[in-house]
Amino acid sequence: MEQTDMKAMRVTDVLGDGIVTWVEKQAGDYEKCMAYYRCAIMEVETKFNVLNTEFSLQYDRNPISSIKSRLKNPRSITEKLERRGLEVTLENMEQHLNDVAGVRVICSFPEDVYALADALQKQDDIRILQTKDYIKYPKQNGYRSLHMIVEVPIFLRHEKRIMKVEIQLRTIAMDFWASLEHQLRYKKDYEFTDAMVKELFECAKQSAELDEKMDNLRKRVEAGV
Ligand code: GTP
Ligand code: MG
Repeated sequence: MEQTDMKAMRVTDVLGDGIVTWVEKQAGDYEKCMAYYRCAIMEVETKFNVLNTEFSLQYDRNPISSIKSRLKNPRSITEKLERRGLEVTLENMEQHLNDVAGVRVICSFPEDVYALADALQKQDDIRILQTKDYIKYPKQNGYRSLHMIVEVPIFLRHEKRIMKVEIQLRTIAMDFWASLEHQLRYKKDYEFTDAMVKELFECAKQSAELDEKMDNLRKRVEAGV
């Protein structure tokens, strides 16, 4: 007998067939649900790719520099539900978590962020549940981005499902700051001093100034002056 078969037998011997079937079913349901979120990410990415293509035909430049998407991992899902005092179930995940599927769109210029958000909002199969404009109103630490929680339909063989996706739109300069700040903040066992918080905020301010200068240059180029 193969060793793996022996291991499998012991699990069923101890726990009984019932629990193994239960675990398999739970794992299967979870995988299925995550596959739906992956489909929703594909739908949203396609929408942005289409807009990028149309823009580039019209203006001869790409408003989107890159798109980075991610699915929240099981540990983060569990921790977030527990933090909110909710039972860890797929139903609670679908109902209460807005960021299981995340799409980050890195744009060239600040104006591109708003143009893309506006174009997406006008699409009749998309429902915007929430918008947070951290560009007009940056967070206290200097973080800037435009966040949207949207509902998007995915069409399966026998049904249509409405999935939630968190979209973050930001410029290359905003992404540069946010990515490095995130890396620094998540370094374990380290508390930022007040001076460092201030310095990070200063960096965010400089990145905003850089965006503004580049946007002014773009306007001059487009106006031909
Ligand atoms: P949570 O997802 O539970 O934090 O909900 P929230 O209501 O606080 O959402 P918010 O829209 O403020 O932020 C959601 C996401 O934006 C985070 O998961 C990060 O990806 C990003 N984000 C928000 N604030 C910061 C920040 O200060 N620094 C960085 N690097 N990213 C941030
Ligand atoms: Mg989040």
